[in-house]
Amino acid sequence: MSPFLLTRTLPEDATDAALRADVLHGLGHLPKTLPPKWFYDAHGSALFEKITELPEYYPTRAEREILLARAGGIAAASGARTLVELGSGSSEKTRHLLDAMPELHTYVPVDVSESALTQAGHALIAERPGLNVHALIADFTAGLTLPDTPGPRLVAFLGGTIGNLLPAERAAFLASVRSLLSPGDTLLLGTDLVKDASVLVTAYDDAAGVTAAFNKNVLSVVDRELGADFDLDAFEHVALWDPENEWIEMRLRSRVTQTVKIPALDLAVHFAEGEELRTEISAKFRADGVRGELAAAGFALTHWWTDSEGRFALSLSEAVENSP
Ligand code: AVJ
Repeated sequence: MSPFLLTRTLPEDATDAALRADVLHGLGHLPKTLPPKWFYDAHGSALFEKITELPEYYPTRAEREILLARAGGIAAASGARTLVELGSGSSEKTRHLLDAMPELHTYVPVDVSESALTQAGHALIAERPGLNVHALIADFTAGLTLPDTPGPRLVAFLGGTIGNLLPAERAAFLASVRSLLSPGDTLLLGTDLVKDASVLVTAYDDAAGVTAAFNKNVLSVVDRELGADFDLDAFEHVALWDPENEWIEMRLRSRVTQTVKIPALDLAVHFAEGEELRTEISAKFRADGVRGELAAAGFALTHWWTDSEGRFALSLSEAVENSP
């Protein structure tokens, strides 16, 4: 077996087709929405990296603190010989985990970005001779097939990205992850926690305006990919806390009455002055809620670790036998 394999489970044009469908649906229905996955072109990914270094944006630092403190415990409790990471990106934070798993047979990073996978994969096999890396270019919210590698398997889904899914999408996602696993396999899940609303809102509306630029970048993506004429200055970044749903919402508020043309879709989209387009939800969690959502999908929570300030949690749960 070659130490670095790359498997594409997405057709080359899947991204374009998915963007068209999402824009057509999201801007063609009220209230207007766009899914957050379209933030992450090269510029958006660079802006996100900047966000993780902002004083206001604590989740990345909090999660790193937990990973550093608990990597040994995670490795021991999972006993994993295969580590699958969903949304691996640069695989940067996974290094802590990999360092604690000398017995690991195969690392399976899963991402939509081929360049990120190739870069991270080559760096890893250079650092860890003997480790097999089988990267998957895939949309993990769509339906994955994992390579045939030795168990037990540990699936890691870090960063709090599960919070970007709506509750029904989360349930479907967790059930699909469970369907990839056998009893005894484990799931490591990063979840940002409910806290003071002002701390949360500030994390999504930083003083330097990096999150505002990140939010508006989705309009640049639609401009470039679909020939649209969104004027980024005609929209205002909005971050608000929804206390009923316990999630942060990011929106773009039209500063004026305007009509935006999207030639590739043969579409003209009207915005009233003050009309808002929802671009992201970022749900915040409580231990009981996480335990319940995992249980509903066939996982039993076995460990719950938070950072020293109780802002973010990593949970480890075990796939259980499905009831007949
Ligand atoms: C790290 C992808 C989960 O919801 O916090 C950061 C992205 N959005 N600032 C999050 C994000 C606005 C994000 N994820």
